[in-house]
Amino acid sequence: MDLGLAGAAAVVTGGSKGMGLAIAETLAAEGARVAVMARSRSALDAAVEVLCAAGAPDAVGLSVDMSDAESIAAGFDSVAQRWGELNSLIHTIGPGDGYFEEMSDDQWEETFALGTMSAVRSIRAALPMLRAARWARIVTLSAHSIQRQNPRIVAYTASKAALSSVTKNLSKSLAKDGILVNCVCPGTIVTASFTENLKGILAADGLNASDPKDVMTWIDKNFHQPCDLGRAGLPEEIASVTTYLASKRNGYVTGATVNVDGGSDFV
Ligand SMILES: NC(=O)c1ccc[n+]([C@@H]2O[C@H](COP(=O)([O-])OP(=O)(O)OC[C@H]3O[C@@H](n4cnc5c(N)ncnc54)[C@H](OP(=O)(O)O)[C@@H]3O)[C@@H](O)[C@H]2O)c1
Repeated sequence: MDLGLAGAAAVVTGGSKGMGLAIAETLAAEGARVAVMARSRSALDAAVEVLCAAGAPDAVGLSVDMSDAESIAAGFDSVAQRWGELNSLIHTIGPGDGYFEEMSDDQWEETFALGTMSAVRSIRAALPMLRAARWARIVTLSAHSIQRQNPRIVAYTASKAALSSVTKNLSKSLAKDGILVNCVCPGTIVTASFTENLKGILAADGLNASDPKDVMTWIDKNFHQPCDLGRAGLPEEIASVTTYLASKRNGYVTGATVNVDGGSDFV
């Protein structure tokens, strides 16, 4: 299937690692020009090498702190100077987590700054470029926890629920401009950072944090919420769905919240 992405201009926030990088790589392989935004210069440089090899020789890595409004504005200014227009904005940034009684006001504000406001600011900055393009799509990455309400990640989940709401709302206001706006809710996905953060905890149970089946065994044991396929997902399994939603080929899906979670009882 031709996704119509050849020559398209795309920005992936959080595109230097994990699902963001997998999405950027899929866009590059489809012939898009890709800019990735994140903080670490070395990770951005490594990502650009991957994107060039995948098929985007003019890939660029922009150093942006998504918790900072000025940094976001400067990142999108630089995209505007480079391309002047934008076809696909994929926002993958997410915050940290914690229990309700452990979190201060400052931590709640930081969580919403990254979990919700980084998307608001990115989309606001990108809108003139999205409107200037012949076709445009926005995809945000929320989380399946907005339907599970896990107490370990109360502020994270609230910020992602707000993100889903903003995404749905924008699909209505931007429909008249032909900008299609959708939200992807990943289930448990084995990224390098996920494995790094949890390898010690899973190892204590004799499980391997980079093995999708072991990860789902641990999720089931600790959260009592297994998925139907019996394994965690892979970044490329999020990338394929997200890339379709972000492509010209997607002509009629807008305002959708798409669960990519290996099967659950969520609608
Ligand atoms: N993994 C899962 O199981 C799972 C499940 C559901 C939802 N999600 C959501 O899916 C999204 C992607 O998750 P992931 O596991 O793929 O993430 P990841 O591998 O940890 O990658 C995170 C990316 O975001 C960048 N980033 C983090 N903080 C940033 C900041 N303040 N400013 C700019 N860039 C920043 C990182 O680069 P730098 O650190 O260099 O800035 C990196 O490129 C997140 O929103 C997450 O909440 C994940």
